[in-house]
Amino acid sequence: MEVIIYPDKESANRAAADFVANALRRNPHMVLGLATGETPLGLYSNLIKMNACGQISFAGVTSFNLDEYVGIDKNDENSYARYMRDNFFDKIDIDISNTHIPDGMAEDIRQSCRAYEKSIRDAGGIDLQILGIGSDGHIGFNEPTSSLASRTRMKTLTSETIQDNARFFGGDPDAVPRHVLTMGIGTILEADTVILLAYGVSKAAAVAAMAEGPITSMIPASALQMHPSVKIFLDEPAASKLKLADYYKWVYSRKPSIDAKH
Ligand code: PGA
Repeated sequence: MEVIIYPDKESANRAAADFVANALRRNPHMVLGLATGETPLGLYSNLIKMNACGQISFAGVTSFNLDEYVGIDKNDENSYARYMRDNFFDKIDIDISNTHIPDGMAEDIRQSCRAYEKSIRDAGGIDLQILGIGSDGHIGFNEPTSSLASRTRMKTLTSETIQDNARFFGGDPDAVPRHVLTMGIGTILEADTVILLAYGVSKAAAVAAMAEGPITSMIPASALQMHPSVKIFLDEPAASKLKLADYYKWVYSRKPSIDAKH
């Protein structure tokens, strides 16, 4: 796990966008794993700008989103399907028919989750997965005590996540759906490369537990310690509870070349 601490989230977002852009230039047909929430918005807006001025193209990309609310239609303003169209897909040259999001309205949820896993396999697996982290340590919507081998399935949100996400539902926790579909931790760990972004002091405890604590289902993101290729992009506040912050900075500042940093 490579922990990279930036002075602020703008510089972290630029570096993360450069990382994604370089991966995309190496493999224009890459399979991208995508996240929602507040965290990836800055990364997406950097990628949108790069796409608009012809530096990168998503025309050959296939994408799979991590998660979706159960019982919310894909056109509802709170669905992650709508979030992706509004904040990313409608602003880049991706072919919308190559984008995939779990179907929160599926009649047969289990079958739909199995089909989602199969689509990922049929696409050749995820090359690069983008993640945020919940203040309770979740990745995707894999809440604490999720099996570290889990696959795409339905989960029930914790009260902490419901409170955290109420801001997207007019501040009303009762409006936040209780159930979600999410790629499993086992699914996420099969991505070739993972990048996780975390900004703000509200993520500091989860980030420290993820990177420096024991591997435990109580902090689902700690499972990333078992993945061979993970980069963590942080701003200073999100890094503020890391015991080895100075070491991570020292290591990064001595990387041999700019190219190696991406
Ligand atoms: P946030 O959510 O980006 O809205 O903080 C992150 C997450 O829950 O993974």
